[in-house]
Amino acid sequence: MDLFEYQAKELFAKHGVPTTPGRVTDTAADARAIAEEIGKPVMIKAQVKVGGRGKAGGVKYAATPDDAQTHAENILGLDIKGHVVKRLLVAEASDIAEEYYISFLLDRSNRTYLAMCSVEGGMEIEEVAATKPDRLARIAVDAVKGVDLAFARQIAEAGHLPAEVLDAAAVTIQKLWEVFINEDASLVEVNPLVRTPNDEILALDGKVTLDENADFRQPGHAEFADKEATDPLELKAKENDLNYVKLDGQVGIIGNGAGLVMSTLDVVAYAGENHGGVKPANFLDIGGGASADVMAAGLDVILGDEQVKSVFVNVFGGITACDAVANGIVGALEKLGDGASKPLVVRLDGNKVEEGRKILADANHPLVTLAETMDAGADKAAELASK
Ligand SMILES: Nc1ncnc2c1ncn2[C@@H]1O[C@H](COP(=O)(O)OP(=O)(O)OP(=O)(O)O)[C@@H](O)[C@H]1O
Ligand SMILES: [Mg+2]
Repeated sequence: MDLFEYQAKELFAKHGVPTTPGRVTDTAADARAIAEEIGKPVMIKAQVKVGGRGKAGGVKYAATPDDAQTHAENILGLDIKGHVVKRLLVAEASDIAEEYYISFLLDRSNRTYLAMCSVEGGMEIEEVAATKPDRLARIAVDAVKGVDLAFARQIAEAGHLPAEVLDAAAVTIQKLWEVFINEDASLVEVNPLVRTPNDEILALDGKVTLDENADFRQPGHAEFADKEATDPLELKAKENDLNYVKLDGQVGIIGNGAGLVMSTLDVVAYAGENHGGVKPANFLDIGGGASADVMAAGLDVILGDEQVKSVFVNVFGGITACDAVANGIVGALEKLGDGASKPLVVRLDGNKVEEGRKILADANHPLVTLAETMDAGADKAAELASK
């Protein structure tokens, strides 16, 4: 999950990374009030999850509260690369002597963490990498050893930061590492990290990506979720602990186990070629426990997608036997009542398959078609979706 700058700075504050004071708002009048409160010139900063805000006119200096209001009015509603500005950060403007760059990230190809640091901050780092690669230090960080103060100083030195600020920069860089590790981030980037005329070091910008796989041990991160921007169906699925990804097609897919669901997507897309090019509408893995409740929650999410024309339930009974899954389907259809309105093709195999098929055959629900094989089920579901 990518964070807004103001959220990144909340994490910075928690770990003692110095920045300038400020607050977030969604109105121009409030921006003025915050500027008044700060009592000094401020920066009005568009809060969007996309780079290059400054160049797009989303970052403005305001000498007075009046200016703050005017800039806020102009920036709210601005479209920055398809992201409409709904929120602003009003932050005290800092005097800047120099702008640096620092980041910690996951280096997947080398299977390690990586620190990047450069004396050439402020501009896009891709540009520094392309035009002045020798000014951009890339230093591998051992996950076990981490970054202590001495190593943080080496990182700053490798990035060619001037000798006078190495000690101060090291303190901040070490704290940014704490943000990276303790918050389970996969990216912490500060551009610019500035040197003030008094040789203080401040993080004036912040980009943080959190690893959602660590959510279970980071309960505090739930508040960062951007509910407005999340697809409502994905939100509903998440609330029910379902692994759901919305896709563009017409055949809803439910399976147990990520591998089976992935191959079901392939098989349905392939079968769809014979039925006017229909495609899978989603990925949904209901995991091990296919109880009526889980099945109902899954079906509820999928049937809520207006694009869905048919549903293919493809389950291989293992620890959860097919009879339990079949009971789950029957129970879910009862539970959803009129909410279940689209044809369902069900293919069961594995543990207790005969019992499972019998339960569905006996229930004889008008919306349910049983399929003998995965290919036949995919073909039937694609055919029903194309009608
Ligand atoms: N609090 C501040 N005080 C003084 N100058 C600031 C402050 N915040 C930002 N700036 C100036 O504005 C420039 C752009 O700000 P910032 O880095 O936050 O946005 P950006 O880089 O344009 O956007 P993005 O990081 O999304 O690409 C900075 O390089 C810095 O010169
Ligand atoms: Mg920036």
